[in-house]
Amino acid sequence: MKPISYNKIGIAYFVVWIFLLPACNKTGENPQAQTVNVHGIIPLPLNIQLANGNLTIDKNTVLVTNSQFQTAIGVVDDALSTVSNSAILKKDSPVGKTNISFIADNTMDTSAYQISISDSGIIVKSKSKTGAYYAAQSLRQMIWNSTLGVKAESFTLKMMTIKDQPKYDWRGFHLDVSRHFFTKEYILKLIDWLAYYKFNKLQLHLTDDQGWRVEIDQFPLLTEIGAWRAYNNWDSACMERARTDPDFTIDPRFIKEADGRKIYGGFYTKQDIREIIAYASAHYIDVVPEIDMPGHMSAAIRAYPQLSCVDSAGWGTEFSYPICPCKPEVLDFSYKVWDEIADLFPSKIVHIGCDEVENGTWASSPGCQAFMLEHGMTVPREIQNFFVRKLQEHLEAKGKTVIAWDDAIDGKINNKITMMYWRDWVKDSPQRCAENGNSIILTPWSHFYLSSPSNDENLQKLYTYNPVDLLPAVVINKVEGMQGCVWTEEIPSEAAFEKHVFPAIMALSEVCWTPARDWYSFQQRMKSHFNYMNAQNIHYRQPAWAN
Ligand code: ACM
Repeated sequence: MKPISYNKIGIAYFVVWIFLLPACNKTGENPQAQTVNVHGIIPLPLNIQLANGNLTIDKNTVLVTNSQFQTAIGVVDDALSTVSNSAILKKDSPVGKTNISFIADNTMDTSAYQISISDSGIIVKSKSKTGAYYAAQSLRQMIWNSTLGVKAESFTLKMMTIKDQPKYDWRGFHLDVSRHFFTKEYILKLIDWLAYYKFNKLQLHLTDDQGWRVEIDQFPLLTEIGAWRAYNNWDSACMERARTDPDFTIDPRFIKEADGRKIYGGFYTKQDIREIIAYASAHYIDVVPEIDMPGHMSAAIRAYPQLSCVDSAGWGTEFSYPICPCKPEVLDFSYKVWDEIADLFPSKIVHIGCDEVENGTWASSPGCQAFMLEHGMTVPREIQNFFVRKLQEHLEAKGKTVIAWDDAIDGKINNKITMMYWRDWVKDSPQRCAENGNSIILTPWSHFYLSSPSNDENLQKLYTYNPVDLLPAVVINKVEGMQGCVWTEEIPSEAAFEKHVFPAIMALSEVCWTPARDWYSFQQRMKSHFNYMNAQNIHYRQPAWAN
């Protein structure tokens, strides 16, 4: 989807803001920020019209259940029962004065919703279950933030009308479970948090040099051997850091003894993955699998050394030895792995990696030299183009669409691959992708990588990221969305993960959703989320300005 351009509402908003700036008081408050601080919704809805008055929710409130939007109604029901001492009535049809009703409106866009809170109750309108679900998440936040999660006989919501829809179709979160592992149960918790902030894609980076994390029936050694490793330098750095900060203690559930030494690892069974996918789907989130090929494959090569050109895992100047696409059995292996992944993950879109491939082992391999001669190739880089094309054809024949990291644009690719732009030091890469006709998802390293220690400065830098200021129009027209990426070399525990990700995830959600952002308003709204994070036992970092 192309981004919604700054519409009239956005422009009006900006004009009002400019004129109100002089009214800011000494503490930096501005009246516009007050108007948007409505029960702290994050991401900020597209448009909010405040009315006068408050609606009381109490034992006379009726949640109307006769609707096609049962999941959304369930979300609101749960939120109400957490904070309300008096049972909220559930009825088939509107009764009395304060009804909460979900109504279909076919004139709206698929992900859009409207919430009207007036003295006749709450009316939610949407065309689709997705829109209704986003409305329910907004209501859930409003309910939580207005009660601070404390049970009461009644509480009030401000009267207003919200009209909302996302700026981008792709609002993603990427988790590397290879460098350090996270349990299935924890991924389910993460899905809850992602849904709360209206993300719709969870990319799981399931394989890398440091561990293969998903069962593949035809290649059992991928998990028997490839899911385990001796401690590496990153682990040692974490252990060193854990001396003064226990958050960096390596999660002991993933350490075991083998042959008298400690090894680290873990993997998801296919059943685990099915449960993750089903849970995510119930939260309107697609799980996008990434099997990173042809580089970053040491874990697989340790299990099956013949996958590399030199029949062993090893390290080049900067990156690990890749698999050897010149061998027909390696292509066959890749197809078979992807056949199982494609069957397991219903997501139409899958990520094939393609980042940081060091092809020295290809260049020096007699087999690859013969292969290049046979295929009329002049440089080893073309072997990667060949591999990407073959994998793409194979996956497209199975009805899948392919994403790759933007390193792939350095070779010859067709325009059907979506490019994930992470190398923001390669300034011309997005333009080359766009001119080649590829869609783009923005994950620029210096803004969207949540794996660097979080601080107030990078939080604001993420929040104020505006692609229009940084990228030419030809690129902007191809942007499908954005994604935050968590790489876990230095994140060995749930506590460390949360400290890196919260509250940045809120800034990320707003960058993905809201066209007209306001840092001051965001700061105010974020404060009301600390209570929620406390209730969820999230180990967040509190910004200095929030004290
Ligand atoms: C990447 O960070 N290597 C995609």
